Amino acid sequence: EPLIIRDKSQMRQWSRSMRAQGKTIGLVPTMGYLHEGHLSLLREAHKQTHLTVVSIYVNPGQFTPSEDLSTYPSDFHGDIKKLMSVPGGVDVVFHPHNLYDYGSSGCGDGVEREVRREKEGGEGVVSCLEERGLGHETWVRVERLEKGMCGKSRPVFFRGVATVVSKLFNIVDPDFAFFGKKDYQQWRIIRRMVRDLDFSIEVIGVEMVRDDDGLAMSSRNVHLSPEDRKKALSINQSLSKAKCAAEKGLVNCTVLKNSVTIAILEAGGRIDYAEIVDQESLEAVDEIKGAVVFCVAAWFGKVRLIDNLEINV
Ligand code: PAJ
Repeated sequence: EPLIIRDKSQMRQWSRSMRAQGKTIGLVPTMGYLHEGHLSLLREAHKQTHLTVVSIYVNPGQFTPSEDLSTYPSDFHGDIKKLMSVPGGVDVVFHPHNLYDYGSSGCGDGVEREVRREKEGGEGVVSCLEERGLGHETWVRVERLEKGMCGKSRPVFFRGVATVVSKLFNIVDPDFAFFGKKDYQQWRIIRRMVRDLDFSIEVIGVEMVRDDDGLAMSSRNVHLSPEDRKKALSINQSLSKAKCAAEKGLVNCTVLKNSVTIAILEAGGRIDYAEIVDQESLEAVDEIKGAVVFCVAAWFGKVRLIDNLEINV
């Protein structure tokens, strides 16, 4: 049975005492509703550290009010069972009620929300955090890397991710943190943040886990109707084809992106983006050479899915 900790200061105390005993700690941040992708991060953590912490927290700071925070799936007891099924289990599940409750020092009120709307140019681009009037106003932004791809259609997303991950790093104080390459841009952003802000944490990127039919595993897949789930296979199938073509010498990115876009549209999906970018800088490239990654986001019904494939030629 893992130790379940809900309190920030108790989490800190645990880490401090373990560290004093010379133990290394690995953190796997998640939003719960765990699947094999999350469990693979935990398996990787077991290879590298003495002790493992999995955090489960659906972060209001990375959702806008129009996104799917309220319908984000959860199953805490199921999650614990899944974690226990991994060899070595998990030492601590950190499951805070609210990471933005600062007690009397937080001046959360409706005023905050108005202030934020003004700051964001009055466009109403606020996260659920401001919407709830919680008194938080410090944000971590990884300015260039957060701009493209998922950052374009989800303007507060990476600000929220980088901020909550910073908070988790400060609370859990791990030696290693594990992120899936399924969320490629997120992984790159966290690595860059750790470097730029001198966190003494090693960020490990873990390979993406797919279902048997090739669909990238995601907690959101439960919201797909059976028909949409089949249609969504057009994402991974067209990406694989594009990768094959690139490896055979078709290096023109416009052609490759068009082939993926058309395949997804024909299957009945709605494209958010299809981009081929440098693996490090995430800058778009015109021609495939060296280490790139082909990233896609598409809607099937009300579900937004992301996927990517690394291509090295
Ligand atoms: P969540 O979507 O729950 O994902 C938690 C971690 O699991 C992330 O590092 C993600 O990349 C990884 N993951 C998800 N699906 C995966 C798959 N199919 N294969 C491999 N890894 C996979 O990402 C978040 O939560 C949040 O943004 C978070 C980092 C916790 C901050 O709130």
